[in-house]
Amino acid sequence: MFQKISVCGGGTMGAGIAQVAAQNGIETTLFDVDPLNLKKGESTIEKNLQSLVDRNKMEKDRMSQTMNLLSFTTNIKDCSGEIVIEAIVEKLEAKIELFNRIAEIVPAETILASNTSSLSIYAIASKIPHPARVVGMHFFNPAPFMKLVEIVSTNLTGPMVIDAVALLARKMNKVPVFCKDAPGFIVNHVARPFYIQSLRLLEEGVADIEVIDRLLENVGFRMGPFRLMDLIGNDINYAVSCSVYESMNRPARLKPSLIQEKKVRENQLGKKTGKGYYDYS
Ligand SMILES: NC(=O)c1ccc[n+]([C@@H]2O[C@H](COP(=O)([O-])OP(=O)(O)OC[C@H]3O[C@@H](n4cnc5c(N)ncnc54)[C@H](O)[C@@H]3O)[C@@H](O)[C@H]2O)c1
Repeated sequence: MFQKISVCGGGTMGAGIAQVAAQNGIETTLFDVDPLNLKKGESTIEKNLQSLVDRNKMEKDRMSQTMNLLSFTTNIKDCSGEIVIEAIVEKLEAKIELFNRIAEIVPAETILASNTSSLSIYAIASKIPHPARVVGMHFFNPAPFMKLVEIVSTNLTGPMVIDAVALLARKMNKVPVFCKDAPGFIVNHVARPFYIQSLRLLEEGVADIEVIDRLLENVGFRMGPFRLMDLIGNDINYAVSCSVYESMNRPARLKPSLIQEKKVRENQLGKKTGKGYYDYS
């Protein structure tokens, strides 16, 4: 099972997911509407694999085999395989539209998995033909390194679909964790105050970005909140903050920050645009 898959969206997550799939022997098509982003995704994968070769963690031949398993396309009709995983913008309407277009191309048994960080899988599935095949498959950033994959089901999801995506996660050398559709699932639900309360400290002038990051890194967090938001992408992090806030009936403690909104408006999205809370140029 899972000899061939497709991934939609060749950005931070889609490129990482496609890389992991190919590294684990799965023929993978990566589709993006934007040729520049697609090219960037391809270069990132190549650079990541080359870095493994340079550090003697991968044979040069294996790198070529991995690259040969990947194909890159801007034509949605090239999407095929036993599962299509979407990792496009964090917008409900965009995901519904994409899956409906995919549903016209692939057979009814093709699994449609969303890598959404926070949107309701039920809200997506209920708008797609054959909703039993729609499931959440939430990888973490950076996808090539992070082991965890949240497998999110709704009461529409078929039990065999849940088993199948767990199998795929294991085949990709990941650890599946099962959860029900809920705002932010497990990790983004628990982690939301980490970002929002740090932004509150910044808004109130309690401490600056570097102090907050350094302090939290010193008490054991791998990355401080601002460094992590820059890695995730401030557009994605803001969209997730808004989505969790709205779906939890707007609790004051989780109100998204105006600082996040300003970062998005000014295209200071973090590492991917070269500037966020920190400068990467
Ligand atoms: N960034 C993270 O840390 C992270 C972690 C886990 C999950 N996610 C989720 O993964 C998804 C993608 O996030 P990302 O950080 O990779 O975003 P990104 O902005 O890096 O990439 C999104 C890509 O999707 C493409 N795209 C947009 N609309 C499309 C469409 N209709 N069809 C095909 N391609 C399309 C864009 O051109 C872009 O290349 C989001 O749902 C996000 O919530 C993100």
